Amino acid sequence: MTEPILEVSGLVKHYPLTRGVVFRKQVGAVRAVDGVDFRLGRGETLGIVGESGCGKSTVAKMLVNLERPTAGSIRYKGEDITRLSGRALKAVRRNIQMVFQDPYTSLNPRMTVGDIIGEPYDIHPEVAPKGDRRRRVRELLDVVGLNPEYINRYPHQFSGGQRQRIGIARGLALRPEVIVADEPVSALDVSVQAQVINLMDRLQSEFELAYVFIAHDLSIVRHISDRVGVMYLGRIVETGTDTEIYEHPTHPYTQALLSAVPVPDPEAREHRERIILSGDVPSPTNIPSGCRFRTRCWKAQERCAREVPALAVPAWFEAAGGPAAHDSACHFAEEKHVVPAEGHRDGPRGHGDGPWGHGGGPG
Ligand SMILES: Nc1ncnc2c1ncn2[C@@H]1O[C@H](COP(=O)(O)OP(=O)(O)O)[C@@H](O)[C@H]1O
Ligand code: SF4
Ligand SMILES: [Mg+2]
Repeated sequence: MTEPILEVSGLVKHYPLTRGVVFRKQVGAVRAVDGVDFRLGRGETLGIVGESGCGKSTVAKMLVNLERPTAGSIRYKGEDITRLSGRALKAVRRNIQMVFQDPYTSLNPRMTVGDIIGEPYDIHPEVAPKGDRRRRVRELLDVVGLNPEYINRYPHQFSGGQRQRIGIARGLALRPEVIVADEPVSALDVSVQAQVINLMDRLQSEFELAYVFIAHDLSIVRHISDRVGVMYLGRIVETGTDTEIYEHPTHPYTQALLSAVPVPDPEAREHRERIILSGDVPSPTNIPSGCRFRTRCWKAQERCAREVPALAVPAWFEAAGGPAAHDSACHFAEEKHVVPAEGHRDGPRGHGDGPWGHGGGPG
């Protein structure tokens, strides 16, 4: 990896769970984020993927300082930004910007596009002197593929994809080095999703941006991510390069998520195996002991309830090397090809013969 621009270590966010109106008593905690570690290189994209409620947005909010971590550190160029305040914090915040999930609700309907995109300059006037702002906003509109003449229009005059372009232009206004994009295309039509992802791809090389790109679906992040982290119940359970995760997943949860990814090729679709997980995701107020995935894992054994699996390269893969040798928090990690390799048409080659759930044909 290139020199890290962000290093997240032991990141935790617990929300207290209280009871009583007058005498508020803490009766537990929502463990929204429960020990997350990752590094982000300059100009790199880290995809973070996981089902709804696993803590992705909470991680995003901590990265841009909208939430304070309960524990852990976020180092930006070596400095822990969770300990900064005042001017030093403001300077760092300028460099880490967020693009929000829902372009329909995240833009103030009563502000013009020009005011929305230029608003960050009110907080950071040092970036753009007052007289120069409209010129810059027009340039930003052009950069994201919108007509600069639209500067006086209101959000409702734009489509969903155009609104997300406006959100991206606003994210770029302060020339950040890192953009945290929280499900930036989830609210958009499939046909528009690709356009917005392509735009983000282009902007990345143009402005040397590093992205934390969050999604609930593995198929969306593949083409934009250099590395991917798979989250489950507040933790990253597997992380690796895109090839390692998509073609050589070793954690059962990743394998299950991959088995639900749409496969366009009908022949490959016919051969692939759907892994249907039993049960629901446990509540983050009551996380299972040992491996947090064990209540839904078809491979779970007694050890899984006792011992928390560390996110590390499993010893048996480390010795052999190759693409299976990447971080996986599973005591019994084994490779399973779920999605046919790109450009190949062979079906899944599963190892082991665990009690796999089979979905009825292509989904
Ligand atoms: N302010 C809050 N107070 C209490 N619980 C919260 C709060 N914000 C999020 N949560 C809970 O934390 C968990 C993770 O939420 P979130 O980070 O939004 O997940 P995701 O973005 O992956 O869907 C969920 O169970 C959610 O209900
Ligand atoms: S540690 Fe056990 S329960 Fe957890 S994913 Fe691995 S096999 Fe399943
Ligand atoms: Mg979210």
